[in-house]
Amino acid sequence: MKQFISVHDVKDMNALVNKALAYKANPLADKALGKGKRMGLIFLNPSLRTRLSTQIAAENLGMQPIVFNVGNEGWSWEFEEEAIMSGTSVEHVKDAAPILGNYFDVLAIRTFPSLQNKKDDYSELFIKQFIKYAGVPVVSLESATLHPLQSFTDIITIREQLLLTPPALKEVGRRCKIVLSWAPHIKPLPQCVANSFSQWMNAWNLTPSLSPAEPFERGEGEKQFDFVITHPEDYELDEQFTNGATITNNQDEALKDADFVYVKNWSTYTDYGRIYCNDPAWMLTEEKLKATNNAKVMHCLPVRRNVELSDEVLDSANSIVTQQASNRVWAAQTVLAEILKANG
Ligand code: CP
Repeated sequence: MKQFISVHDVKDMNALVNKALAYKANPLADKALGKGKRMGLIFLNPSLRTRLSTQIAAENLGMQPIVFNVGNEGWSWEFEEEAIMSGTSVEHVKDAAPILGNYFDVLAIRTFPSLQNKKDDYSELFIKQFIKYAGVPVVSLESATLHPLQSFTDIITIREQLLLTPPALKEVGRRCKIVLSWAPHIKPLPQCVANSFSQWMNAWNLTPSLSPAEPFERGEGEKQFDFVITHPEDYELDEQFTNGATITNNQDEALKDADFVYVKNWSTYTDYGRIYCNDPAWMLTEEKLKATNNAKVMHCLPVRRNVELSDEVLDSANSIVTQQASNRVWAAQTVLAEILKANG
């Protein structure tokens, strides 16, 4: 793996998931792989999980991680080519990134979208410029439109859960149903997590096996789970990520018999970066969960309690948000190991 920016950098998703679960069982299995290598984690935006899990992952591989918070500690960066830098930006990425590329063997960067200009955000200008000038492998810690480490974690968590509790699916003799459900929020949020989860779900080729020891295995045939996205009208995501999913504005219908419900807010994509709906009826509650197949509930976190998800759901046995966030370490460790192996 030369870089990790989207699902397109992954050759064999199921093999990667299995590697991540192997690291979870044996975190220090490759503790010398990154010996003598330094990793720079560059944050233009806040983080809890991404920052700490990636640091732990790098240390598990013997790397030395160093975090730099450009957003509130460094000089502000300009990303446009040929910019006349008479505004607030102090340093151009074409000056900063090569220096970081000399300091570090691997770089990772978080660059949120502005939510002001769809064309700029969806061109992924910031991360593309960073990659162009860094000169070393780059890992996305969330870019303007995607959050691949989160999505990889989400798939690891779903697979882990299926390995832990496969019988429920077999008993009812039907396909696993995975639902991405929009939720209300007080602020306009990026579409990254929803875009990325959709992209990974649509690329995931998982078919069931009849072996209890290996209830799901990679297959060449038809995808053996249903992926459904539900959101209010006007919250359609970019089709480049959602093509392949069933999309409905009827949340009750979507939740029926669901095995996994991934709750997430996003702002509007078409009329970009707005809040058109804040209807509390879209919050996932215990009552709504009754329509599901005792679904496991996921959220990338941070979560607004009793706005996106009720306390009852988050504090119930259905919630796997802590397991999900914990798995961020194994996702990051697997990606870093692949990058170290491919780049010497
Ligand atoms: N889910 C996630 O990326 O969390 P942080 O923003 O805390 O890193």
